Amino acid sequence: MSDSPISHHSGDKPPEKPQDDEAAGADAPSTEEQKAQMEQAYAQMRRKLRITQLAEGIKHKVMVLSGKGGVGKTTVATGLALSLARQGLSVGLMDIDITGPNVPKMLGVSGAELHVEEGQIHPVPGPHGVKVISMAFLLEDEDAPVIWRGPIKLGAIQQFIGDVAWGELDALIIDFPPGTSDEPLTVAQSLPNISGVVVVTTPQDVALLDSRKSINFAKTLKLPCLGVIENMAGYTLRGRGEPNTSISVDGPEGTPIETECDADGNWQVTLDLFKSGGGESAAEELGVPFLGRLPFDPGIVRGGDDGVHRIVADPDGDSAKAFEIVVKNLQAQLTEDSGPGLKII
Ligand SMILES: Nc1ncnc2c1ncn2[C@@H]1O[C@H](COP(=O)(O)OP(=O)(O)OP(=O)(O)O)[C@@H](O)[C@H]1O
Ligand SMILES: [Mg+2]
Repeated sequence: MSDSPISHHSGDKPPEKPQDDEAAGADAPSTEEQKAQMEQAYAQMRRKLRITQLAEGIKHKVMVLSGKGGVGKTTVATGLALSLARQGLSVGLMDIDITGPNVPKMLGVSGAELHVEEGQIHPVPGPHGVKVISMAFLLEDEDAPVIWRGPIKLGAIQQFIGDVAWGELDALIIDFPPGTSDEPLTVAQSLPNISGVVVVTTPQDVALLDSRKSINFAKTLKLPCLGVIENMAGYTLRGRGEPNTSISVDGPEGTPIETECDADGNWQVTLDLFKSGGGESAAEELGVPFLGRLPFDPGIVRGGDDGVHRIVADPDGDSAKAFEIVVKNLQAQLTEDSGPGLKII
């Protein structure tokens, strides 16, 4: 049985293999099972070759991880991709979350169909020209749970890596499900010269504890940790009052927060809904860069649900600006030589 969930049409050339039965001589496969094994081995070799070629055309490959679910990986992965693309760079976004692929929804391209030509899957163009690949494009029913056993999942991920016509890219951002299981491991072992891992966390202790696992995962796989991003870092309230006066705002649990109205009468206070500064101290403690914090922004929730990312809907807003800073810090970490990578399996 094939381990591939994507069928290729007739344009896909068969793997090259010895055609001359005499040359193959006594070593020629004798049973159907042996033939099938050889076919599989050739297909695997071809894929490895393609992955190597493909990897050469992509300058930077960045894995976005978190130890805990729901901290904003997909929001951050899509935001990084859009923010880089806004600079005029050529960017790909690969959604490796097989059980909950949310990237197409957040980018407003859900329902798009993957186009397969000559054995290559063509990514779907998203906002700012970001090239998107997601398992969601293969699912006929969005609400049906995907239950794939290990080898099928592995085969699907390798197809997503090896069979996609990305073309030349400045950056490929890869979004994962939470945790450090099969998916990131498969990508880390299959894709050569990964630039590194970005860890997304929210500021509270329980999320930080889990993000330490992601950092250690990267270290174990000898992948550079490019840095930690603290998401949902603070919610800014804004208002107006008498110019040049002090006012007191009731914070969480009625705690008063003192602030000043400026000469125009504008005031603002930032509420740390999930504590503050935890991402930075975790990064410091583990000796990895801190890439910055992204504010809690109800517009991100709306944007995610409506399929218009906050960066697209409000390109000059607080969130888009915060993404710009994070991306600038990320770019500073990315070097031409992207680390040793892992052995290709
Ligand atoms: N900075 C933010 N401000 C407000 N809401 C946010 C922010 N970042 C993410 N969210 C919201 O939090 C929810 C979870 O975000 P997201 O899907 O990006 O997390 P995730 O880590 O990818 O989740 P999963 O682990 O399920 O893949 C979404 O509703 C999203 O809109
Ligand atoms: Mg996600």
